[in-house]
Amino acid sequence: MDRGNTSRVTEFVLHSLSGPRELQLFYFVFFTIFYMSIVLGNLLIVLTVIFEPALHTPMYFLLSNLSFIDVCLSTFATPKMIVDFLMEHKTISFEGCMAQIFFLHVFAGGEMMLLVAMAYDRYVAICRPLHYAAIMNVRKCASLVLGSWVIGILHSISQLAFTVNLPFCGPNKVDSFFCDLPLVIKLACTDTFTLEVMMLSDSGLMAMSSFVLLLISYTVILVTVRRRSSAGMAKARATLTAHITVVTLFFGPCIFIYAWPFSDFPVDKVLSIFYTVFTPLLNPMIYTLRNKEVISAMQKLRSRQVSS
Ligand SMILES: *[C@@H]1O[C@H](CO)[C@@H](O)[C@H](O)[C@H]1NC(C)=O
Repeated sequence: MDRGNTSRVTEFVLHSLSGPRELQLFYFVFFTIFYMSIVLGNLLIVLTVIFEPALHTPMYFLLSNLSFIDVCLSTFATPKMIVDFLMEHKTISFEGCMAQIFFLHVFAGGEMMLLVAMAYDRYVAICRPLHYAAIMNVRKCASLVLGSWVIGILHSISQLAFTVNLPFCGPNKVDSFFCDLPLVIKLACTDTFTLEVMMLSDSGLMAMSSFVLLLISYTVILVTVRRRSSAGMAKARATLTAHITVVTLFFGPCIFIYAWPFSDFPVDKVLSIFYTVFTPLLNPMIYTLRNKEVISAMQKLRSRQVSS
């Protein structure tokens, strides 16, 4: 490629998990199984909530929307990564790269907002149980879901607005298995300091503030639960601890990658697997499949299907 001022990068080279051919094959099988479990597990939850009228409550609508976003979040880049394990040259076009950045921020931003909405729902249910019916209903829930998507899209557009027109004039090696914004910004032939400050105040601030919001609401909920001591509350405490685990596993890597962009950590690549692969798999396991109501709804649906 000609390196003059007018040349423009038309494709990026992805450096995914490297290693000898056998190891690549192992990754291929490993991540294929992971990806199929994510899609099947989450779709099962979405279908169960849609077909079981007993689960038509704000909490389960939010859960199934989370499952839906998880399918999206694991689909915008993971299948390409899986196929790339079999390829000699792992490349992506300029447009494909921008699309990956766009979708990552729509889905991850939407997921963050949805997690906040779910924490809010639990806060009202546990801390103000007498007002729950007045505060939360299906319509309020629908606007929370819509709001999450709108915020995700606006956030993504604001990030992409200053990325698409950057001068990419030569360097094109992205050290990850998909186009992650901090890694792509580093390749621009311009002063990246300003860009990184902008990214920090956009993605970093968004991740940081929703994380703090989540920690505060879960702390308030835990304190409330602790004051009452019945058997039901012990169960609620276990559920909440699980929620906090998921939230930390999702936000930890995001904040690490997006809020400390100035350092060049080689672990970024491994951490980005957390928010595109591990969280989408953990969410159904922790939020839903341990939940008795969901399990019995699934069994009911299955027996209905067997008898028809
Ligand atoms: C998401 O939430 C809305 C509003 O509560 C609900 O109507 C819809 O069925 C949910 N979507 C999915 C995929 O669960």
